[in-house]
Amino acid sequence: MKNKLLVLNMKMYMEPNDIKEFMAKTDKVDDNIIICPETIYIPYFINKYKNIGIQNIYFESRGAYTGCNSVLHAKKLGVNYAIVGHSECREYFNITDQIVNKQIKSIVDNNMIPIMCIGESLDDKVSSNSKKVIKKQIIDGLKGIKCDRIIIAYEPVYAIGTGNTLSKFDIIDSVNYIKEILNGIGINALLLYGGSVNSTNLSDLLTISVLDGFMVGKSSCSSVEVLKMMKLLSSN
Ligand code: PGA
Repeated sequence: MKNKLLVLNMKMYMEPNDIKEFMAKTDKVDDNIIICPETIYIPYFINKYKNIGIQNIYFESRGAYTGCNSVLHAKKLGVNYAIVGHSECREYFNITDQIVNKQIKSIVDNNMIPIMCIGESLDDKVSSNSKKVIKKQIIDGLKGIKCDRIIIAYEPVYAIGTGNTLSKFDIIDSVNYIKEILNGIGINALLLYGGSVNSTNLSDLLTISVLDGFMVGKSSCSSVEVLKMMKLLSSN
């Protein structure tokens, strides 16, 4: 069986010196690792690693869009993945499901692979709305999308950056539900879990067979953590 995927979502945690150090200490990474550095650092990573993702993208290819990053230009630079719909982008940049949908269309049109993040908030969970929210994110986000290569990262907002992953039972329950919805709309996706994953809890999470991999935030900024996680994945 192929190794599970590991998406490194480095967010905006690293200074230029941290990036240099990270790159010096991770000379070789396996093919199942997708590195998503802060956008300004992408050119450093392009020639050294095989799988590079961008953390957010504008859906137009070019034009007068100050401060935005074009899918087309990312693709031409050699970026092959793009994260969309991360809960932080949904919260801070008002990214709606409709925008996510436009982003995914543009990513697919440019032959890149979307990594679409979905997940309920604590309020949704407390009000027993988790499944409703997840369903809406999938249906609206993937409306009219036809593609055979897409990754969905299930990241409950209350598990991100808290040090607490969901229980295995809850992950399996949500992921099976996500699969059911995707089957209903004829989309075949790889499914990841994200939210406080690190080298300590990864061995246990690796026993969840319905998952194709993981998205890692904070721990992706430590070369020591990344090398440990990579080893766990390759020996799984
Ligand atoms: P975390 O972030 O690993 O720091 O919880 C995960 C994510 O937001 O992708």
